Amino acid sequence: MLILGIETSCDETAAALVRDDRTILSDVVLSQLEEHRPYGGIVPEIAARAHLEHVDRLVGEAMAQAGVSFADLDAVACTGGPGLIGGVMVGVMTAKAIALAANKPFLAVNHLEGHALTARLTHDIPFPYLLLLASGGHCQLLAVLGVGQYRRLGTTIDDAAGEAFDKVAKMVGLGYPGGPQVQAWANKGDPTRFALPRPMKGKPGCDFSFSGLKNAVRLLVESRPAPLSEQDVADICAAFQTAVAESVADRTKRAIALFTETWPEGKHLVVAGGVAANTALRAALEKAGAAGGLTFLAPPLNLCTDNAAMIAWAGVERFRLGLVDGLDFAPRPRWPLDPTAPKARGAGVKA
Ligand code: KG4
Ligand code: ZN
Repeated sequence: MLILGIETSCDETAAALVRDDRTILSDVVLSQLEEHRPYGGIVPEIAARAHLEHVDRLVGEAMAQAGVSFADLDAVACTGGPGLIGGVMVGVMTAKAIALAANKPFLAVNHLEGHALTARLTHDIPFPYLLLLASGGHCQLLAVLGVGQYRRLGTTIDDAAGEAFDKVAKMVGLGYPGGPQVQAWANKGDPTRFALPRPMKGKPGCDFSFSGLKNAVRLLVESRPAPLSEQDVADICAAFQTAVAESVADRTKRAIALFTETWPEGKHLVVAGGVAANTALRAALEKAGAAGGLTFLAPPLNLCTDNAAMIAWAGVERFRLGLVDGLDFAPRPRWPLDPTAPKARGAGVKA
């Protein structure tokens, strides 16, 4: 079985070809970093235009690299949401057009399901498992029970973890995206020099919060002589990164307890999303997993961040179960994986 995947929900235009034997035949990603960098964040209108400009070429590249034609496909999958709606529309329109022209089934994949199922592409693990999804737009703990079957154990009540990294980077004068730069500076800093809160630590449940921590960093920056010295920048980044890692590890420990009690057959803790690149966070999660009896798994970085191989793979998983969509599918700006979970409270929450 061969599936074409297309991803356009955020600031990466991507296309990939994946087979049901877990072979990635091609996986091309075009990051729009340079288009958005001057604005210090993603501008939805610019993103949508860039997707439109590049998606056809990227699909062509993915097909050429894999050495296949549309006639060889079993189905065409694309991200149907959640995400920036202008971009999602571009991907959905493209995938529908190919499906219609080549007379192939069309699959609208939930972007979060793409992230959630990646561990089965890279590591072939069985259901159920516990997933921490931490990216620029999401911060969730999910029990992954099967294709289309998710229980949300926790989510952010305000900002996503990656967004907090990006905002803190901006506050201390580092560029966009902030995560990698905050990590690099944190490596040179002393995490104990400045005291920052550990949001939600010790609180019941598994929800996250980052806006209070972000605000604490803002107050700290304002309390220091301007411009910040290099040592101040390094120490603030180190304090912030440690606070995030401790907070996320605390929330994840609670989720592990809940998960292993409810689904004792589950053996794995998996991470996905760009924030999973953070080495301090990974170390904290590996420890939390081991203490709770779960094996920690992180897909390679290029499959943790947004890509189309995960969309094609989710397409494989859905297509094997006969879960195809009609060409009347409408792009969904919001699309929670667990419809039974209560709505998250804060602003900026995308699912
Ligand atoms: O998954 P992703 O590539 O895109 C989506 O948001 O969907 O995640 C990007 C986010 C950004 O907020 C970026 O700052 C963060 O991941 N990030 C990191 C690191 N690398 C990327 N955050 C912390 N530490 C990192 N090393
Ligand atoms: Zn994503």
